[in-house]
Amino acid sequence: MWIEVAKNNELAHNGLKAITAKGKEIVLCNCDGQIFAIDRRCGHMSAPLEMGTLDGHYVTCPMHHVQFDVRTGEALNRPVPHYFGEQPEQEILNNFPNWIANLMGHIRTCDIKTYGVKIDGESVKIDL
Ligand code: FES
Repeated sequence: MWIEVAKNNELAHNGLKAITAKGKEIVLCNCDGQIFAIDRRCGHMSAPLEMGTLDGHYVTCPMHHVQFDVRTGEALNRPVPHYFGEQPEQEILNNFPNWIANLMGHIRTCDIKTYGVKIDGESVKIDL
């Protein structure tokens, strides 16, 4: 069933827009004028993907930088730990980020769901 979720002029060129439709959290991705719809939540630890970046057909999660192909939802890489810099810290604080990064790297990253999109006049519709 096709549902209008936005107007075409609401989507920034190469931008991301979060919407909710039928209780589902979805992100619309404007890839050089071609619109794709993906699940809002990252397949790793559920970060909101509209806060990430879109480069071509690839959205990068803002939390651990997994990239997804918005055409297929496929996760293209594993999570990348943050770099905490060279500043001296207490030993426990130094070890904590490494422990978290190591743990995070073992959490399975799932592909994300994609939805059919069609433009109907000024309306962006997705297949739900
Ligand atoms: S939550 Fe998206 S890569 Fe970890």
